[in-house]
Amino acid sequence: MAIDYLERIPNNVNLSENRRLQRALESWQPGFLNWWKDTGPEGFLDNEVYLRTAVSVDSGGWAQFGHVRMPDYRWGIFLAEPEEDRRIGFGDHKGEPAWQEVPGEYRGVLRRLIVTQGDTEPASVEQQRRLGATCPSLYDLRNLFQVNVEEGRHLWAMVYLLHAYFGRDGREEAEALLERRSGDDDKPRILGAFNEQTPDWLSFFMFTFFTDRDGKYQLASLAESGFDPLSRTCKFMLTEEAHHMFVGETGVGRVVQRSCELMKEHDTDDLRPHAGIDLKTIQRYINFHFSVSVDLFGSELSTNAANYYTMGLKGRFQESKRDDDHKLSDLDYAVTQLSGDKIVTAREPALLALNERLRDDYIADCQRGVDRWNKVIKKEGIDVELTLPHRGFHRAIGEFANNPIAPDGTPITEAEWDHHHKDWLPTPEDHAYIQSLMKPVTEPGKFANWIAPPARGIHGQPIDFEYVKFN
Ligand SMILES: [Fe+2]
Ligand SMILES: [Fe+2]
Repeated sequence: MAIDYLERIPNNVNLSENRRLQRALESWQPGFLNWWKDTGPEGFLDNEVYLRTAVSVDSGGWAQFGHVRMPDYRWGIFLAEPEEDRRIGFGDHKGEPAWQEVPGEYRGVLRRLIVTQGDTEPASVEQQRRLGATCPSLYDLRNLFQVNVEEGRHLWAMVYLLHAYFGRDGREEAEALLERRSGDDDKPRILGAFNEQTPDWLSFFMFTFFTDRDGKYQLASLAESGFDPLSRTCKFMLTEEAHHMFVGETGVGRVVQRSCELMKEHDTDDLRPHAGIDLKTIQRYINFHFSVSVDLFGSELSTNAANYYTMGLKGRFQESKRDDDHKLSDLDYAVTQLSGDKIVTAREPALLALNERLRDDYIADCQRGVDRWNKVIKKEGIDVELTLPHRGFHRAIGEFANNPIAPDGTPITEAEWDHHHKDWLPTPEDHAYIQSLMKPVTEPGKFANWIAPPARGIHGQPIDFEYVKFN
């Protein structure tokens, strides 16, 4: 389905046939643009950036590439194609036709789910606001901005649902999405990880690898929703999300690659005298970003998650591919727990354990990326392995919150934590060192010393292409 770019708000939802909704969204649009100018990429309003823009939602060839100024980006409302006679796939309403309108009894819950997802989208743009000034290359700068404009579009996606289906409450929530700010004392973003800073590019790559991947799993389970407009919205968002995780995985991979090269060149694993990032620092960043991202899945056992499922609002990852009754009433699921000073696995009701199940899917996906980084290290002939810490490490939510666990999964005392945590999490010295490396490299084809060039450019362009134009 092609997208109508003649409209002020590009869309594939026949917006022009719904005047009231069109006017409501057109009146939200200036606020969005002001938000972008106030909190979007600092200092790059006039640069032309080689961006991809969605021109259709078909799986093949949906994107068009070209240089655009970010404030002119064609943010719009794009839903995946409707599925004919789609049925609700799980929960109490399994088998009933998917809802095209909000079911009255679930209105509040559904609105909360949409607002919570929507709030993460502008938050990440705010967190990444100042990174442009220290880009390691034009290639990376362009990727940052691509991620930023798409997170802006994801905000549009959620705001469309709020405006189209939730009446006045929805409009108020849409306003509030533009008012909260990442890290703000008075009006912070809703979820903890989205109030952390993304102060440097190593953090950015870790964020897009670990935290955008949380987004993938949340979107994938919302794509199963019985509320069809939400499902179709999330399906299209997932196609964009894949690129964000690509940026993260290849970004960290290229840092790892460069670190290995420097280790061999200087015959040392202490790379700070050589302006590189040592693998131990990379490991500490992994530990941090992984632990704050697994927190985003919530408590191991959750009646909220069970309710979302039973109501048919939020399914499991790849719900339709699971071979069971899709109601989970009599099933159980293995949950890792703390029992005294031991970590054990217990069978718990599958319905209550849905957060943990989604976290399991997420962790397996993260592990595949870490395995690919380790391949890079091995190929360079270096005998080091990066690892994911245990799921209980450095948690602030759920079973393990405030119980010190070592990265290998050993429960430890507070005193042991105090003694060792500087080996496990980035220290102020690490942050200061990484910050000292953050110097802009803006000559086409050149890269900062701490990161290797990518294997290839964007959309068939050469690596030394002028991905961002400085006039
Ligand atoms: Fe997003
Ligand atoms: Fe994302």
